[in-house]
Amino acid sequence: MKTDGVVRRAKKNDISRILFLGRNIKEFISSRQSKFYSKDELEDWIHKPKDNIILTVFIGNKLIGFLCAKIISKHWCMIDTIGVEQRYRGQKIGSKLLEKLYSILEKKNIYYAQAFGGLKHKGTRKFWKDRGFQEGKKFVWIEKNL
Ligand SMILES: CC(C)(COP(=O)(O)OP(=O)(O)OC[C@H]1O[C@@H](n2cnc3c(N)ncnc32)[C@H](O)[C@@H]1OP(=O)(O)O)[C@@H](O)C(=O)NCCC(=O)NCCS
Repeated sequence: MKTDGVVRRAKKNDISRILFLGRNIKEFISSRQSKFYSKDELEDWIHKPKDNIILTVFIGNKLIGFLCAKIISKHWCMIDTIGVEQRYRGQKIGSKLLEKLYSILEKKNIYYAQAFGGLKHKGTRKFWKDRGFQEGKKFVWIEKNL
């Protein structure tokens, strides 16, 4: 069965590919100390699909896009990351990932989606704006290693 470009839930076998792509998307770097997810974290989230929605898109064996979202509460889903490999951007992969997320959230009666957008990334800000996301207050990333 041909599954190129189809959005599906992530499986354990996808983890190394998610790590590889995620670590290569420079827009995900929020600060000096923050890191992309670890293998263990992804494994844990994939095992808890009620609390976490991890979606993937492949072309053959190559992961070209993914989305990680967390269910924060009964009404609220936080889209933590959505990323498409640079050379595949602008081909509606990001839109398809969001649409799949919406269909999962609809079944759970979750009606509020929130994401973080880098102020300097004009293309990404347009992506959210064109899909009906409004910008709220601007925050500073505050962090501490404990
Ligand atoms: C945001 C992102 C996921 C969109 O994925 P995509 O597959 O290119 O999205 P689509 O093809 O469905 O939509 C394209 C829209 O995204 C925006 N966009 C952002 N960067 C783009 C790029 N390099 N190429 C083309 N479109 C881009 C444009 O607004 C474009 O709108 P248009 O089609 O009217 O020109 C992708 O650009 C990406 O991975 N960005 C870096 C990671 C990031 O900042 N993620 C969001 C915060 S976690």
